[in-house]
Amino acid sequence: MRSRPAIAATLALGGCSGAQTPLAPVADQAGSQYHLLLLMLWVCGVMYLLVIGFLIIGLWRARGRHAAAPPPLLEPADDRLRRLLAVWAAVVVIGLLVLAGGSFLVERSLALAQANESLRIRVTAHQYWWRIAYRDPASGRWVETANELHLPVARTARIELGSADVIHSFWVPNISGKMDVIPGRANAIDLTPRRLGWFRGQCAEFCGPQHAHMGFDVKVETSAAFDAWLAAQARPAAAPRDAEQARGMEVVTREQCAMCHTVRGTAAIGRNGPDLTHIGSRHSIAAGTLTMTRAHLQGWIAQPQAIKPGTMMPTVTLSPADANAAAAYLESLK
Ligand code: CUA
Repeated sequence: MRSRPAIAATLALGGCSGAQTPLAPVADQAGSQYHLLLLMLWVCGVMYLLVIGFLIIGLWRARGRHAAAPPPLLEPADDRLRRLLAVWAAVVVIGLLVLAGGSFLVERSLALAQANESLRIRVTAHQYWWRIAYRDPASGRWVETANELHLPVARTARIELGSADVIHSFWVPNISGKMDVIPGRANAIDLTPRRLGWFRGQCAEFCGPQHAHMGFDVKVETSAAFDAWLAAQARPAAAPRDAEQARGMEVVTREQCAMCHTVRGTAAIGRNGPDLTHIGSRHSIAAGTLTMTRAHLQGWIAQPQAIKPGTMMPTVTLSPADANAAAAYLESLK
């Protein structure tokens, strides 16, 4: 698990702890896959260099012979050549055995990861966002959020994956390989992060025009911070603290917004879109497309189709004052 400052500086995304890349693993799963990749690169690289080397030697030794009849591939009496070929066959077989053994050990370690049963997280893929549900240890109820996965460091979480529509793929490159998310099929993936920070996840299966904007944020935090976060997420939405936020709450709970969105503790109980109860606490909006700011919320509410053409969020006709009030209210929902 080394840092690669040069790559990180080139690829780093806003707010993330380095680059979104499997070459900088921060979890057991990504680490073992990264080491398997290195093993394969070394074995295949050495094989490649040997083959190219033999080819160059053969061409060198055959120089000037092109006019003559080609010699037979194997002279019957050439014992030295026979021995060399036997050694080469052994090298190839050993290389293949090393690859097969390494692959088997990594697959086995991934299959044996024992998830802590208390840390089951349900992730449901939608065109083009992620519904994320945690079991609240206090009440036993499922608590929903969206597009932001929180994981306690050094514990194994089991992510139970489902799809609400088409095939997607769940991928956090720094933490693990991909797992398909298929309608009607329950898939799961275990994640054991080892480093604190923000990491970025991504849908990795083409699922429609906004596939590229189906990202999510992953926050790896201490156990205490995770417990505090989950307890805060389990609470109902905060009450408006000023007149503008109160007007925004009216807009969100009375207008079309409430047909698709839930704000727990209010009249908004829609289920089609992301739960907004604590949207103000999140790192980004529109599935990792925009950072969380008042201005971005206003723009997203006013012109979702301009920001993510083809998103399922319709353009709702609101006056500028209502759109601003709605943004103020949503931003206050920490
Ligand atoms: Cu969901 Cu691509």
